[in-house]
Amino acid sequence: MKKITLGRTQEKIPIIGQGTWGISRFFKDNNYYEQWKKSLRAGIELGMTHIDTAEFYGWGKAEEIVGEVIKEYNRDDLFITSKLFPMHLSKRTMKKAAEKSLKRLDLDYFDLYLIHWPNPLVSIKKQMRVLETLVNEGKTRYIGVSNFSLEQFKRAQESLKTVELINNQLKLNIIDQEIMHDSLSYYQKNDIIITAYSPLGHKGLKDINIWLMDKLEEIAERHNATIQQIAIAWLISHKNVITIPKAFHINHIKENAEAASIKLTKSEIELFYKKDSNFILNKL
Ligand SMILES: NC(=O)c1ccc[n+]([C@@H]2O[C@H](COP(=O)([O-])OP(=O)(O)OC[C@H]3O[C@@H](n4cnc5c(N)ncnc54)[C@H](OP(=O)(O)O)[C@@H]3O)[C@@H](O)[C@H]2O)c1
Repeated sequence: MKKITLGRTQEKIPIIGQGTWGISRFFKDNNYYEQWKKSLRAGIELGMTHIDTAEFYGWGKAEEIVGEVIKEYNRDDLFITSKLFPMHLSKRTMKKAAEKSLKRLDLDYFDLYLIHWPNPLVSIKKQMRVLETLVNEGKTRYIGVSNFSLEQFKRAQESLKTVELINNQLKLNIIDQEIMHDSLSYYQKNDIIITAYSPLGHKGLKDINIWLMDKLEEIAERHNATIQQIAIAWLISHKNVITIPKAFHINHIKENAEAASIKLTKSEIELFYKKDSNFILNKL
């Protein structure tokens, strides 16, 4: 699995990791959780060692399942991201939520801890103070945000004193490109990593329009790949973009890992842009 440098740190992170939104707490039998664990293990063994989770996913169940799987591996070989849900209002309750996530994951520290969505009831400054405290207390190595507009991201970065945000996790895929056209150039120039979430449009590209399907199928045939692999390869062709597809089925896990080896040409990448753009691409 290809790795890229995490912003201005010395850290390397896999260009494709694993999402966990979908691990449910309710009405599921043991086979369901065992299948999830098998898929996560298969992903780790294929190098998708960045696992993205959140206190919100399955109301803590996703973190519990991830915790059970990752204890089988060397901690230093993994990169674990989790997120604070915007329902905690005070510094004390925000910190407590982070500690509960760590407990469910059975970890001493996160590699990356994010604010899941900007909390409209708490100032950005206060949210950043909590993240800063968590770094200073050794509870997370790096911090970032998710679903922050570019303007919110800049405000958040400016309000930090001793640490920097290294990441914004945003909805970005071959269908939803608005955020990319609005902000990717800024993140590329400023060495911030974008984690593209819902890289397959959340539904595995099942409901895309004919125009996009035709183009994807044409490029997929050329590369002897699936359309989902092309959509993932397209995202990670951009400098500073990593992604975290979610897959319950092991065949999907394998295909997703293989997408890291697909090399699209500049013209194949540009074919899918909805606006003229001049993004920096990874070395082709
Ligand atoms: N920060 C945020 O607010 C936020 C929001 C949404 C998501 N996320 C993160 O991003 C992760 C991924 O996004 P997502 O869960 O919305 O959806 P996604 O990864 O865009 O799509 C998941 C769907 O694609 C299918 N799939 C996966 N690989 C495939 C392949 N190779 N071929 C065909 N179908 C494939 C999956 O099927 P199976 O599961 O049946 O294998 C599932 O139905 C989440 O799990 C979560 O960790 C973050």
